[in-house]
Formats: sequence, C-alpha cells, structure tokens
Amino acid sequence: MEYAEWLKNKDLQYKDGILHFANVNTIEMAEEYGTPIYVINEEMIRKMYRDLKQTLDSIYERNSIYFAVKANSSLSVLKILNSEGASFDCTSTGEIHECFKVGIPPEKIFFTGNMFTNEDLKFAVEYKVHINLDCISQLRRLSKIYDDLELEKQAISFRINPEFGAGHHSHTITAGKMIKFGILEDQVIEAYSLAKELGFKRFGTHIHIGSGILNAYDYEKAVEKYLTIITHLTDVINIKLEFIDFGGGLGIPYRPEEDPLDLGIYKDVVVERFKDLVTRGDLGEPCFIIEPGRYLSAESSIILAQINTVKDNGYKKFAGINAGFNTLIRPTMYGSYHHIIPCLENQERDRIKYDVVGPICESGDVIGKERVIPELKEEEYLAILDAGAYGFVMSSLYNSRPRTAEILISNGKTFKIRQEETYEDLYRNQRIPEHLK
Ligand SMILES: Cc1ncc(COP(=O)(O)O)c(C=O)c1O
Repeated sequence: MEYAEWLKNKDLQYKDGILHFANVNTIEMAEEYGTPIYVINEEMIRKMYRDLKQTLDSIYERNSIYFAVKANSSLSVLKILNSEGASFDCTSTGEIHECFKVGIPPEKIFFTGNMFTNEDLKFAVEYKVHINLDCISQLRRLSKIYDDLELEKQAISFRINPEFGAGHHSHTITAGKMIKFGILEDQVIEAYSLAKELGFKRFGTHIHIGSGILNAYDYEKAVEKYLTIITHLTDVINIKLEFIDFGGGLGIPYRPEEDPLDLGIYKDVVVERFKDLVTRGDLGEPCFIIEPGRYLSAESSIILAQINTVKDNGYKKFAGINAGFNTLIRPTMYGSYHHIIPCLENQERDRIKYDVVGPICESGDVIGKERVIPELKEEEYLAILDAGAYGFVMSSLYNSRPRTAEILISNGKTFKIRQEETYEDLYRNQRIPEHLK
C-alpha cells in the first residue's frame, strides 16, 4: 500500500504542509490545548465499528460486538460505541462502573476478569452482569453467593483456554498450558456438569487467545479446537449454548509496511467455521460474539507532543519530546512500534536517524527507536500514531508527571473530553500522619 494511502486510512493527511487529523489542523490543536495531548477521532471509531458489524451481519445475524473496555475506557468513547449499538466487555468492577456512568445497562456488559474475588462475584450477581468464569473454584463461590442471597441463577460461561494462542508479544498471548487464563480442555465437561448440578440453567462459552493478531489465519487452530470442544461438550452433557464468544485480538497496521487485517480471511477462518457448525449441528442458534478492543479504538487516536531538546552525543541523535512512557507505555513495555511523524511537513530537510525519547528518567523511555525523520527542530510538534488502544488507559503518574488531556474531534470541531491533571492531583489523596507534620 502507498504510504499516503496508509496515512489516509487513518484519516491523516498533509494539507499545505501541515498534518491534519480528521480534517483538523494538528498544529492549531497543539497550540490551543497544549501538549502532550491525546486526540480522538469520533468518526473513525464509528467507521471501524460499522465495518466490522456489517461483516458479521452479512454472514450471521445473531451477533454482538462487545467492545473491550480495557483498550480505552474514556467515557466519550464508551458513549460513541453505545450509540452505535455495541455491547461491552469489562475486566474489572471499575470498568463496569465506567459503563454504568454513561448509561450502559447491565445486560449489555460482560465481566471477563480473572482471579475473581468474592466481592467481584457478588457485584456481578447483585448488578446482574454476566460473568465469564475463569476456573471451577469460582463457580462454587458464585453458586454459594446466589444461594446466600436467595437469587435465581443467571447464565454463566467459562473462559476456555484452547492452548493455541497468538499475539504481538508474549505478554499478550493468552492461551497455552503455561498461561494463567481459563480452563483447559480436560476440565470443560467437569465445569459445565458441575454448573448444571448447582442449578445453573443457561450457558455460553468464551475464548480469548491473544491481542494484536494481524494475520487472521493465526486464529485457525484455536477456533478449530474450540469448536471441537464445544461439540463434545454439548453432546456429552446436553446443554444449549446461548452464545459462543470468540474474544478479541484483531490487530491493526502500526507500521507503514503493514496492511490492515483482512476481514475476508477473518470471516472465513472464524465466522464461517462457527456458522458451519451451527448449521450442521444441534446447537440451536447461539449468538456469535467477539470482543475487539484494539481494532475499534487504536487508529482513532494520535498523541500530539512537542520536541523540547534535540541532542547529538557524538554517537547518536536524540529527539527529546514531552511524552514519555508515562504517556504511552507500549513501546517500553512490549517493544511496540508507533509510527511518528512531524506535524510540519518539510520535504527539503535532510532525513536523519533519531531515537525519539521521552522525559522519564530511565534509559528505556524510548517512544521510537532509530527513526529516520526529516531533520527536527526544538519546539516543533510531532504526532505519535495509533495510540487509541492501551494508550491513555495505561498511562501513569511516574516521575510525578500529571496525566494529559484528551481531545475529541467530532465533525471538524474539537472538544476537551478529559481535563489534564494538575500538581494538586499528585497529592490530593495522600495524608501525612501527625508525627511527620
Ligand atoms: C478477555 C478479553 N477480551 C478482549 C480483549 C481485547 O483484545 P484486543 O484489544 O486485542 O481486541 C482482551 C485483551 O486483553 C481480553 O483479555
């Protein structure tokens, strides 16, 4: 794919030498709101959701897309997806509270945590949020909570670990014998039989094999095994599944040489296989569910940052910017690539190799390693692309740097949807004991 087209797919374009995002001038935004800032493109979130939904609808109408809130829990993002008809997959009671805050009803929320506490389970029961259990001991505790509260048992599902994982980094591969998530094949019959014995009557199943999967064929083995497990399960213990959840993991092209995930292949490898099984078997009409986070939100956001120091130590050139791993931790945590481009295009400048580094007091604070970029000047602005998933949600106060603001672009207008934190936020919740005063 041509580079300009690759950028255009992300709604980025140079006009009169200035980078525009969703048709808005990035330099003007940087000057109006200050930097660093996260900038979110509302239309991109809507487009990604609609394209994916249309793909699913074209094959199997009983489907739902649960947005993985862990990728981006900004209230405005949740509102946008809610207005599109999405459902939501949460990994903590905090994320569920964020969904409630914007009016998402419990029946549109899944709680897929792991290592659930009794408080988590009780919360799900009391608020009637569907829970994807992670092991058999949690089922016993959940059943006891229902019994103690004398409430009717709602649907449950187990996260099944199909042992074939995939993902952009070992930390994000979530299936395999040595991985903490879910129950393995040989526990599946026991888990659902016990659930029946304990009085549960409605069931679903769940997998999530990893995150950042750009080659849809990487789902193939896991899906095959999952469907075999499901066929065996429904044969042996005679239950009907209300839904079959295939998790998230759909990747996006972070690098200019990468093409977008081929939804046609995803459709063949995942959705068609599911549909074949449903058509052939005696499964009834379970809902087909997926839980993408990155796919829906990553390309919706850029970070605008300012270069404060350009330095050459004789061996290497560094472009120091005001966004470090406190603002975007993915490069440091996973070695992830985020494309970095200047807001001011200047074709005449020499192209120079820089490490683009943040202000955090650690050598690992490198946002872009050995990037060849037109020669940079102090005080210029840069855009860090594809920051809308696992970006702001993973940001921190490290080095006591308050977190950034978030700006939403909607129909060419900009809105500050999150106030930047202040120094006061650094000490607001701290208490000094009397003897130290
Ligand atoms: C259970 C579950 N579902 C969905 C997701 C979303 O993954 P992605 O953002 O790669 O689609 C995750 C991510 O870790 C997850 O753990």
